[in-house]
Amino acid sequence: MPHVAPLPLSAHRAKALGGRVRVPGDKSISHRALMLGALATGRTRITGLLEGEDVLNTAKVLQALGCPVRKEGGTWEVLGRGVGGLEQPAGALDFGNSGTGVRLMLGVLAGHGLTARLVGDASLSLRPMGRVLKPLERMGLEVLDNGPDGPPGGHDRLPLTVRGSADLIPIEYQLPVASAQVKSAVLLAGLHASGETTVIEPAATRDHTERMLGYFGAQVSATKRQGLRAVSVKGDAELAGRDVKVPGDPSSAAFLAAAALIVPGSEVTIEGVLVNPTRMGFYTTLREMGADVAFMGEHIEGGEPVADIRVRHARLKGVRVPGERAPSMIDEYPVLACLAAYAAGETRMEGLAELKVKESDRLAATAAGLTANGAAAKVDGDTLIVEGGKGVPGGGQVATHLDHRIAMAFLILGLGADRPVTVDDAGIIATSFPEFRPLMQGLGAAFAEPEAA
Ligand code: S3P
Repeated sequence: MPHVAPLPLSAHRAKALGGRVRVPGDKSISHRALMLGALATGRTRITGLLEGEDVLNTAKVLQALGCPVRKEGGTWEVLGRGVGGLEQPAGALDFGNSGTGVRLMLGVLAGHGLTARLVGDASLSLRPMGRVLKPLERMGLEVLDNGPDGPPGGHDRLPLTVRGSADLIPIEYQLPVASAQVKSAVLLAGLHASGETTVIEPAATRDHTERMLGYFGAQVSATKRQGLRAVSVKGDAELAGRDVKVPGDPSSAAFLAAAALIVPGSEVTIEGVLVNPTRMGFYTTLREMGADVAFMGEHIEGGEPVADIRVRHARLKGVRVPGERAPSMIDEYPVLACLAAYAAGETRMEGLAELKVKESDRLAATAAGLTANGAAAKVDGDTLIVEGGKGVPGGGQVATHLDHRIAMAFLILGLGADRPVTVDDAGIIATSFPEFRPLMQGLGAAFAEPEAA
């Protein structure tokens, strides 16, 4: 179901949460499994795919490009078209709310000699696309126009019309910002180039694209260049369809972990979660705050490390979260800030410039939501500072700005607040975690429509 009318929801103070649960599949891996499946020859079978709107939009886009994607029982099947084998779409490609979907697909489309119009929702249409277009234009992608309804941001914003080329030029590209999406777009385009394409990262970002490219048979390598990570992929690549089992999303699990840490007496175990080191900054920070977090039964599944994560309630203290850690926990800051409101003393989260260009300006939205609920939060440049440990009065309304993680973070805040915390739209949560509400309620969380409160 596409997201339509706003759905306000309130979170009430909860009694101890408990249980063993699974969270839906990792969003990053789900997008990549569909896309690499489409670029492979033969059949790719995906289990555990996240069926959130973002990922379903990627599936629809691939179908519009002539790649059969269908669900058979609990398994998603992609009948790959081979590298360069996608077809001219009949209409615009709608990516909904998903930055990952559109930015990675721009890398894929760059290598196809077809013209495509790319559109998204109001949130996605405000997000910068120049960061991917710049390297892709060097490789041979043409940006044709932004259309009559194109915004003043020019080539930096959707809607965009692009034309790819079956004959891309391989490049070496130093990322100006630590972005897995930009790295991935360039590597995916590199599959279509004649020669080796290299991306150099200012800081290590999530490495699912390179792991999965290797798994599908591409020639990828990672080396160090003057202390920085350089990832290369050989062009004119051939990928073979594979079976992919998508592990639980650690960014979704973060909401459950935070809830258990806010509500006294809680113990929650989240089974089968991806514990890839490039995604673990939040859990490292929890431990520094004094949390009781255990990773159990760690093993490798489909080339990615997976474990059960057990979180027990503990009294937390505020910490300084260094900017270098941001790429490994970039999506977890809103919920960390909400948790920090319950931790004794100051939590200082540094180096958060990238938070301003997520599904919303998360730096501003997080500080505003905390302030609206009587918690002490302020933004100082790229730093978010929360002074916690004095209780959270609650009673405020939070503007979610079409941002699923702002909605979930503040529902978690409400589980320990004196009065309910209300988010103006919980419907947007379906983009990444459609099961959030029933799953949290199954653990004992109390959510209700505001009029029923
Ligand atoms: C993602 C990368 C991150 C993250 C997003 C998913 C990915 O974005 O915020 O939710 O799957 O590559 P950036 O790479 O732009 O930081």
